[in-house]
Amino acid sequence: MSKDLSNYRKSYERHELLESNCPENPIELFQTWFLNADNSELVDESNAMTISSIGLDGFPKNRVVLLKKYTWEGFIFYTNYNSEKGKAIADNNNICLSFFWAGLEQQIIIKGKAEILAENLSDGYFESRPDGSKLGAWSSNQSEVVSSRQELDDNLSTFEKKFEGEEILRPKHWGGYLVKPISIEFWQGRPNRMHDRIRYSLQKDFSWKLERLSP
Ligand SMILES: Cc1cc2nc3c(=O)[nH]c(=O)nc-3n(C[C@H](O)[C@H](O)[C@H](O)COP(=O)(O)O)c2cc1C
Repeated sequence: MSKDLSNYRKSYERHELLESNCPENPIELFQTWFLNADNSELVDESNAMTISSIGLDGFPKNRVVLLKKYTWEGFIFYTNYNSEKGKAIADNNNICLSFFWAGLEQQIIIKGKAEILAENLSDGYFESRPDGSKLGAWSSNQSEVVSSRQELDDNLSTFEKKFEGEEILRPKHWGGYLVKPISIEFWQGRPNRMHDRIRYSLQKDFSWKLERLSP
């Protein structure tokens, strides 16, 4: 089977990104773009982002997770620390996050260092989750091979019984990562493939250097 996609082509014409619209701190620009995406009917799941890590097998791997918070310090997501990504990050905490908001013709690429989030913050977030999600965290050894769907459903039933009438506490193998950025690139699609790319790089004195990159 084959399908030729060579005539799939779109002209990006919605917005522009000029230095005059770039604040000194990229988190501020992230906030402007994120709020715009979040309020836009053209974007579904604005907080879905791709994270890539270098695995123990030496290969990069991408997968989507949900951004749950951002602050001046960085970007927070939650997962299972024993998952494939958890093991990869324990070995090499250099990771990359990216957002692609197709409807806005925008991409953001963040390189940074992932750190295990403070336990009290993971506890606080876990506490806020619905019971079903809490039980899911207990029931799934994320990234492990399972024999069948039935095994997963049985695990869930086991934990439903175990915690019946009791508070469901956070399993220690589940929690957040804070990704502290070292560079953030904002990409805005423009006509004729002459896109706007502005990259902020963190400097030794913690200021941000802003550069325009060729598309
Ligand atoms: C829209 C979407 C949101 C997701 N959010 C999360 C998340 O917040 N945390 C998470 O661990 N996995 C999330 N996943 C599942 C991951 O993509 C991935 O399958 C899982 O984390 C296991 O990855 P790993 O085996 O590479 O560790 C999400 C998937 C999708 C498509």
